[in-house]
Amino acid sequence: MKVVVVGSGAREHALTHALARTADVVCTPGSPGIAAVATCTDDDPEKLDADLFVIGPEAPLVDGLADRLRAQGKRVFGPGARGALLEGSKAYMKQVVRAAGVPTAAFHTFGAHEVDAAVALINSTDGPYVIKTDGLAAGKGVLVTESADEAIADVRDKLSGASFAGAGTTVVIEECMVGSELSVLAVCDGESYVLLPAAQDFKRMHDNDQGPNTGGMGAYSPVPGVDVDALAIGPTFIQPTLDYLRGQGIDYRGVLYAGLMLTPSGPRLVEFNVRFGDPECEVVVPGLQGDVAALLASAADGALDSSLVSPAPDAAVTVMIASDAPAGGVVVGVENANALEGVNVFHARTTADKGALVTSAGGRVLAVTGRGTTLAEARERAYAAVTQIDLPGGYYRKDIAANAAAITEGTI
Ligand code: AMP
Ligand code: GLY
Repeated sequence: MKVVVVGSGAREHALTHALARTADVVCTPGSPGIAAVATCTDDDPEKLDADLFVIGPEAPLVDGLADRLRAQGKRVFGPGARGALLEGSKAYMKQVVRAAGVPTAAFHTFGAHEVDAAVALINSTDGPYVIKTDGLAAGKGVLVTESADEAIADVRDKLSGASFAGAGTTVVIEECMVGSELSVLAVCDGESYVLLPAAQDFKRMHDNDQGPNTGGMGAYSPVPGVDVDALAIGPTFIQPTLDYLRGQGIDYRGVLYAGLMLTPSGPRLVEFNVRFGDPECEVVVPGLQGDVAALLASAADGALDSSLVSPAPDAAVTVMIASDAPAGGVVVGVENANALEGVNVFHARTTADKGALVTSAGGRVLAVTGRGTTLAEARERAYAAVTQIDLPGGYYRKDIAANAAAITEGTI
């Protein structure tokens, strides 16, 4: 099978790594890391031919790439623009979730001309406040704060349309939920789904969950003590959403990613995303046993065959190395890191420059992933690999999977 993967990040690298076990993969545009396992091209995906197209990031999905490819008769894993609006608009997502009867935080939506009403709501309630910009903001459009003043300033900023490159002039103000978070990725064929092993993501920039939200500074899987079947994640969150979307004429074929909060009163939805999570993909997909390409093809055909893969027998931990320096910084040590047992370094933002590996942007640069028989071993391997790597302005969290590894080792 020939598969075209659209994207260039660590998620697409991890996907390609898994797909290439059973398929010929072409990635557009790809990265120096992906070039080691697949062919990379700058060609427009709409000009390529393949047995299957897998669209990695949310932006082309929201932009309707899956619809355009399907209109050409191509087999595509990824929702069309109407399905992708679940991620493209938080206000729409909340509306769908309410209509589908999925448990989530109470919310209000305010448009650009409703600043006074939004401020009045904040002033009439106790914190913490959760303020979200409506549109795509790469995981950074959410403020959670105890301070009413900060919440009000954020609402004014978001409703002015000045922030997040104009990611909408609508905000959603939500009830603040408390609990630990869980990411569950469901591979869907429009009607049915299969859940991949659950993962936990670390969204805050600094250790101990301090600092601003990011796209994710690390992840691990499996999550000890969490049984997605016992928690009824599929029947409560995924199936009602697929059924509701079908009722609206939306045939959702792709990943439906449920970001959940495990609250004292049970799991509740934080958000839906319409693609594999990043870095969740790096800890979940490469470990799947079986034929990942055939699984995604069956979903794209509307005939999901969940027997094509089974969960990883081991554990994985990803530590993101980010950079606060400008693009072009030379990255060293990736080969040494990759040579370590159980280690894969997935490239998030790298490019080749005169034979050297350099950063292609600031932010998350490498997803350093360790696998092992236990979370503790996977974690040791990931951090041992991180110490091999050097790049300008590099930083990473030191506490990824620390508690989970300690729990499974019986040390806490
Ligand atoms: P989102 O982009 O919607 O996933 O939000 C990013 C992060 O903000 C989440 O992973 C949570 O840590 C936090 N967050 C979002 N919504 C809520 C909420 N209603 N209550 C508490 N925390 C939230
Ligand atoms: N890791 C969070 C996300 O992919 O949105």
